[in-house]
Amino acid sequence: MRVILLGAPGAGKGTQAQAICEQFNIPQISTGDMLRAAVAAESELGLKVKDILASGALVSDDVIIALVKERIQNDDCANGFLFDGFPRTIPQAEALKESGVVIDHVVDIDVADEEIVKRLSGRRIHEGSGRVYHVDYNPPRVAGKDDVTGEDLIQRGDDQEDTVRNRLKVYHDQTAPLVAYYQDWAARDPKSAPSYHHVVGKGSVDDITRQIMERLRG
Ligand code: AP5
Ligand code: ZN
Repeated sequence: MRVILLGAPGAGKGTQAQAICEQFNIPQISTGDMLRAAVAAESELGLKVKDILASGALVSDDVIIALVKERIQNDDCANGFLFDGFPRTIPQAEALKESGVVIDHVVDIDVADEEIVKRLSGRRIHEGSGRVYHVDYNPPRVAGKDDVTGEDLIQRGDDQEDTVRNRLKVYHDQTAPLVAYYQDWAARDPKSAPSYHHVVGKGSVDDITRQIMERLRG
């Protein structure tokens, strides 16, 4: 099964990806996690993208497309995969289509902007794994510690309120057009297009997971 999770920053892509990937035994391919790992490792890619991530702008399509193409060659993708945060522009979606990779489902998680700001200001992550928590909505078992490793949780550098507002603007300008792109493709050519599913992202994490699972199981 090959799945794309669409949605604004803070819509819950990473949170839902964890549950879906576990259920279907497929890897979560988060371009954001890959870029943050490169920044932490101070690799050539990391040095190139560090300031872009901190500002909330998007990394260039060429860099992202090359990164994803290489990643999906990996053996762990034989059974499928879940894209979290890719594609994020029309050129990225076009490149994916042209590469001949067949996507089964696009799940669009829809959350209002004002809710997003609350979610991102309370978000904490485990840097090593990308596991996501929220101080109120999805707290770890022990405050400030990852449930699996017990290691410290951190706040992401791009979760400051002004950066969040910029990320939302970038989302509306450059990523939101993908909703119409996948809806139109599914209406025009349902045989070759991925199935498009709209999911309201407000409610409990488990409820939203259940709704997504129902859609994916058809
Ligand atoms: P990326 O890491 O993809 O960030 P994003 O899209 O901004 O999304 P987030 O990770 O912020 O949110 P999420 O939807 O995963 O929400 P989460 O589950 O964590 O990208 C970061 C940067 O990398 C970009 O800005 C860009 O620079 C670059 N980049 C990445 N991909 C790129 C690409 N393809 N092209 C170009 N550049 C790219 O949840 C958020 C919070 O809400 C958490 O605290 C969670 O616990 C909580 N929460 C989740 N669900 C619920 C719920 N139902 N109710 C209450 N709280 C909830
Ligand atoms: Zn995420």
